[in-house]
Amino acid sequence: MNVILIFAVFSFAVYCHALSSQEEWNNFKFQFNKNYKDIDEENHRMQIFLENKAVIDRHNAKYKRGLVTFEMGMNQYGDRSQIEFESDLLGIDEADGIRLDALITRAEKPEGSLPHRVSTYYTVRFDAENSTAVPKTDPAPKPLSVFDGFVRLMKMLFRLSMDVVETFKETNEIEDWDESVDWQRRGAVTPAKDQGVCGSCWAFSAAGALESHQFIKTGKLTELSVQNLIDCTTGPDYTNLGCSGGIMDASFKYVFDNSGIAKEIDYPYEKKNGTCRYEDWMSSASCSGYIEFSGGEHLREAIRDRGPVSVVLDARTIEFRFYKSGIYISKRCSDWSTNHAVLAVGYGRKDDDGYWLIKNSWGPAWGENGFSKISNRRSCGINKYGIYPLV
Ligand SMILES: *[C@@H]1O[C@H](CO)[C@@H](O)[C@H](O)[C@H]1NC(C)=O
Ligand SMILES: *[C@@H]1O[C@H](CO)[C@@H](O)[C@H](O)[C@H]1NC(C)=O
Repeated sequence: MNVILIFAVFSFAVYCHALSSQEEWNNFKFQFNKNYKDIDEENHRMQIFLENKAVIDRHNAKYKRGLVTFEMGMNQYGDRSQIEFESDLLGIDEADGIRLDALITRAEKPEGSLPHRVSTYYTVRFDAENSTAVPKTDPAPKPLSVFDGFVRLMKMLFRLSMDVVETFKETNEIEDWDESVDWQRRGAVTPAKDQGVCGSCWAFSAAGALESHQFIKTGKLTELSVQNLIDCTTGPDYTNLGCSGGIMDASFKYVFDNSGIAKEIDYPYEKKNGTCRYEDWMSSASCSGYIEFSGGEHLREAIRDRGPVSVVLDARTIEFRFYKSGIYISKRCSDWSTNHAVLAVGYGRKDDDGYWLIKNSWGPAWGENGFSKISNRRSCGINKYGIYPLV
């Protein structure tokens, strides 16, 4: 009771008058526990913070007037420039601007015996010279000819690992969005975590998918070890790069080969690369394969009928970095240059907007306790690639 009262008085004291820049900065440092090595560094960081804050304030003024569908808010990334942010979290190399190849949608998928089904698989490349992404492969799915279908059927019969290309109906018909699904409400999703300054989104996305599918199968929700994936999926078998990027399919393959993954509590997150310290007694969830697909229609079906799905998106806009609430939509995000992995945990509709509900790994200060809604009118790549594990 006292705590609530004090907090109320404090909030009033803070918000009843406009804060000076210095006060804003001090609050930010306190809230996000920031320390700087010297006064020059601090001044530099404060400058960046004030620039970011100005962007947020301008956007929120539009939000108050009903001109935009989402609100922005300050978070732990407030003292980083956009270039630093991309380099820290998205693995986009600051020096030459080239997206590290190890990131999520690279071409070379590890060969393996893990049973999986590919509906359509695209690879994309980030082009530093050109802000519109350049797809390496033809983005338009081609209908199968009868002959292609026959060849693929033969392949299917002779190979454990199936490679089925399907065509699909891409729909944005808003009626399709009437029903809504929220796996978080159903208790199938653990709280959003903070990846820190480590490009480990892929591991959070993969562990999150395993957690949810394990819950759907067993009724038990257990946090699984992201660090286990970071430490143990480097090397030729999986070719992930720890804090410098990785992919979800290789992570599922590791859990399959390894006959398990540790619980978070037995192998906690360290926000940095480490050596593999997995031991057999740690084995918790398992994985027997995965399903990959492309297309918004497939994504909605998979979320509705199977559970949360690991997806990728273009997270390079400042609006996304400081997203706070509402339905995110950006004209500037790319559908083809994806650089961040999250977990799609539901979908729904508000007025004329269908949206995906996603769980991010940027801590609880980002978005709605770490979650967000992303408009289907422009989904920044979310409906281009999806993967979920079979448990
Ligand atoms: C950027 O990429 C798009 C799509 O590939 C292409 O059409 C366009 O010509 C490129 N622009 C430049 C300046 O290279
Ligand atoms: C993490 O480990 C990978 C694989 O050994 C390496 O390629 C990468 O550069 C490391 N990243 C960092 C940030 O240390």
